[in-house]
Amino acid sequence: MVHRFTLTTPLYYVNDKPHIGSVYTTLAADAMARWRRLQGDWVCLITGCDEHGLKIQRSAAAAGVPTRDYVDRMAGHFAALWQRIGISHDRFVRTSAPRHHRLVHEFYERVRSNGHIRLGQQQGWYCVACEEFKDVDSGEDGTPPRCEIHDRPLEWRDEENLFFCLSHFQEPIAQLVEQEDFIGPASRRREVQRFVEAGLRDFSISRVNLPWGIPVPHQPGHTFYVWFDALLGYVTALCDPDGPQDLATALGSGWPAQLHLIGKDILRFHAVYWPAMLLAADLPLPERVFGHGFLTREGRKMGKTMGNTLDPEALFAKVGVEPVRWYLLRDIQFGDDGDIQQKRFLDLVNNDLANTIGNLVNRTVSMSRRWFGGCVPPEEKQQDDAPPHPLAAVAGATTERVSRCFAQQDLQGAAMATLALAEATNGHLSEQAPWSAIKDASRRDAVAAVLYGVLEATRLVGLCLQPLVPEFSNRLLVQLGCDPLDSRHDGLPPGAWEQLVRWGGLPHGQTLPEASPLMARLELDGDL
Ligand code: MSP
Repeated sequence: MVHRFTLTTPLYYVNDKPHIGSVYTTLAADAMARWRRLQGDWVCLITGCDEHGLKIQRSAAAAGVPTRDYVDRMAGHFAALWQRIGISHDRFVRTSAPRHHRLVHEFYERVRSNGHIRLGQQQGWYCVACEEFKDVDSGEDGTPPRCEIHDRPLEWRDEENLFFCLSHFQEPIAQLVEQEDFIGPASRRREVQRFVEAGLRDFSISRVNLPWGIPVPHQPGHTFYVWFDALLGYVTALCDPDGPQDLATALGSGWPAQLHLIGKDILRFHAVYWPAMLLAADLPLPERVFGHGFLTREGRKMGKTMGNTLDPEALFAKVGVEPVRWYLLRDIQFGDDGDIQQKRFLDLVNNDLANTIGNLVNRTVSMSRRWFGGCVPPEEKQQDDAPPHPLAAVAGATTERVSRCFAQQDLQGAAMATLALAEATNGHLSEQAPWSAIKDASRRDAVAAVLYGVLEATRLVGLCLQPLVPEFSNRLLVQLGCDPLDSRHDGLPPGAWEQLVRWGGLPHGQTLPEASPLMARLELDGDL
């Protein structure tokens, strides 16, 4: 049976164009989706835009543009960027689409008829940038407290709202966040557990005086709180845009999600509020929520006021997509905070991709072509007791390790294991020095064996690189005369990956195209 794998990026706010934070989550999700496709899963990678709320309404007003036009334009930037950098999403959902409204209404009616909605008075300090009430006291001198994340004054609210009865779910949520696999990385579980232990309080899910939102049925003047509607975007996304838009359809189309990938700042929404909302509607819960860390630049928080933001479009135009993918996924332990450093970026991309892997392929293909008629060396006359190739065991351990890493969202681990195989292969090549051995005609078979082993290990490097740097991986595979992989669409049938990574898969005698550099060394004129 085909295994389904639904995974999501956050739905990005359209108050502005995509930033490097949204790019980071999206690249990581793309790598994971590609990995699952190679494992034969039926993957649905969901991304999209979160388009309601006061923050967006105000951004549109500040730009002097009708809100609808503004969100259309911004959502267009996201869609265009993902297209430009080859993100393999299966669905792009927009929460301002009418089809989403219908689903939110159906969901709300379920939760309400199950007795988990009440009217109440909402008083508190609100951060518009976070779109969240903050549990803080007013300053002594009456000045509004500031948001710790955005360093802006909070706004006071005192209005009648509808509340979602989160308190009804204290027990099941406490149990859920205890489960080992629900929250990743493990280091973030404790902070959510503490929040739950402090006691879950009902939260308001409607707003008055906020026209840019989905109207609440039977509650004139109220629109839904942006987070209440946004999380449901994941469910809407599963319904075929041309088919029925309802919960039953979504349930049959890949819900529950196997993985929500998000940043650590929105973990509470995904690991506490969202599962409680789903329980309130008698819907199944996502299997795992993984909160990655935040990116800084040269040790400093990025921000417009700091003048040190990294514009993704300019960045990709300058250095291309693959170097950025490789650097972010290889250098940052996924889950931890990470610092983008220009020098390190250049060093890693040039050392790993251009030198360690690129030169390895180039040299080996050239030697094989020169000495073995443009082909992968022929099979040696096998002796029954011939020992396995020394690289075979390293390669086998690598592909197993890569599998384990992907299963735990350890993208850095997968990248490092692959790189280690390339380094071991380089080491083997230097040690065996086929360029000397070939001068001795009696050692031609031994040279053939060395080169075959190196080419084969290189093929496995190329396969393992596919989810991380798909274009680079395909150039590598084609350089060995192999077919490129399509991890963007259908991927592979179940079981095919295991076949593909079995040692000895590279056909002896296969024609090798003329060697050409896999990646030119990257030089930078100015800043990233
Ligand atoms: N709209 C909500 C998500 C709703 S999901 C139903 C939202 N959007 S966001 O656009 O503000 O943020 C999207 C993601 O970008 C978050 O996961 C956030 O953690 C991430 N990042 C924002 N700045 C970041 C960095 N500097 N570094 C890494 N990721 C960061 O929240």
